[in-house]
Amino acid sequence: MGDIRIRGATKRFGAVTAVDGVSLDVADGEFLVLLGPSGCGKSTLLRAIAGLTPLTAGALELDGRDITHTPPRERDLAMVFQSYALYPHLSVERNIGFPLRARRQARHDIRRKVAEVAGTLELSELLQRRPRELSGGQRQRVALGRALVRDPGAFLLDEPLSNLDAKLRASTRYELVELHRRLRATFVYVTHDQVEAMTMATRIAILNQGRLEQVGTPEEVYDEPASEFVAGFLGSPPMNLFPATIVSRASRTGELVAVAPGLEVPLGQRGEVPDTDVVLGIRPEHLRPDRARPAMTGTVRLLENLGGEEIAHCSVGEIRLCVRGPRPLGLAAGDETGLAVEPGRVHVFHPETGRRLRWQDDGAETVPPSPTEHTEQGVPA
Ligand SMILES: Nc1ncnc2c1ncn2[C@@H]1O[C@H](COP(=O)(O)OP(=O)(O)OP(=O)(O)O)[C@@H](O)[C@H]1O
Ligand SMILES: [Mg+2]
Repeated sequence: MGDIRIRGATKRFGAVTAVDGVSLDVADGEFLVLLGPSGCGKSTLLRAIAGLTPLTAGALELDGRDITHTPPRERDLAMVFQSYALYPHLSVERNIGFPLRARRQARHDIRRKVAEVAGTLELSELLQRRPRELSGGQRQRVALGRALVRDPGAFLLDEPLSNLDAKLRASTRYELVELHRRLRATFVYVTHDQVEAMTMATRIAILNQGRLEQVGTPEEVYDEPASEFVAGFLGSPPMNLFPATIVSRASRTGELVAVAPGLEVPLGQRGEVPDTDVVLGIRPEHLRPDRARPAMTGTVRLLENLGGEEIAHCSVGEIRLCVRGPRPLGLAAGDETGLAVEPGRVHVFHPETGRRLRWQDDGAETVPPSPTEHTEQGVPA
């Protein structure tokens, strides 16, 4: 079992609040990714779960048992670090078996278990080598093997792929997902790489300056970001975000449109609302060249060829926008082009709090935090 509950976790280092009141449930068997920019508190939170960093405030539970003050070695959690932390003078076999020898298990049991884990990770041929005789990816697998051999309640991984080159990172990503599927164990995985988060996670928890911004499936956080921060963090290039005013067009039976100099974007809703300043968000892949009914007219500044796709950097008045689509987009630098977006693809955020807004008949309403952030029942089924 590996059911982790984090309640109001806070960690201060002197004046720095590294983790700030984070509450989060990780269900048994989940692959939860902690995602956020450098310094947002990911490693600190993971180390607190492992028991390597005591919390300043808050509580931790593992399978219903309070482990807030339990020493790391009694927590039944295995941690894998970015740096691998292998013993250089020990063979692969002895590195993997180390946690079992430390627990004084019988020699033939250790042998059997190490062989089994080495088989799973395709390390059987390498058991007699030293870490310096291995590639980065192989070392990473040995570090994983050392975690795996213990049959822990959950795996805690801190940027385990960041020392690998791009190609190896992609294949190891796939291997880890396979491994998770086979083991059905709980993984809490720290990364600042949104591609890793989107491709591996069953749920993503996004941290910003020690606080939890949003937790949800990759689809939820990408398609309905709860805040301007999440909207701008996910996606490549990130979501276009710019100030606009929502107005209700009396002449068009109360159609709601977002206006800014040079653009008028229909929101696909009607209502009688006072003019409201907002931050508008549109993903680059949801803008498309459109001559018939453009929401805005832009000038193409630069085209980037990504092979299968193309990115057009455009300006609309003072606003800079990216448009992404299959190559060729049919645009050239210097072109004036109409751009359109489907109303359902337009995101609206509060200009001060940055929280997502939803439109009602009579005005804006802040979308409440997703229930998974605060529920006492744990994650939904
Ligand atoms: N032992 C420490 N003493 C003082 N400050 C610390 C300590 N450990 C972390 N911090 C601070 O806490 C904040 C969060 O650090 P943390 O290492 O958790 O960030 P992170 O999200 O893992 O970043 P990265 O992606 O760069 O690894 C940072 O401002 C960091 O400087
Ligand atoms: Mg870190």
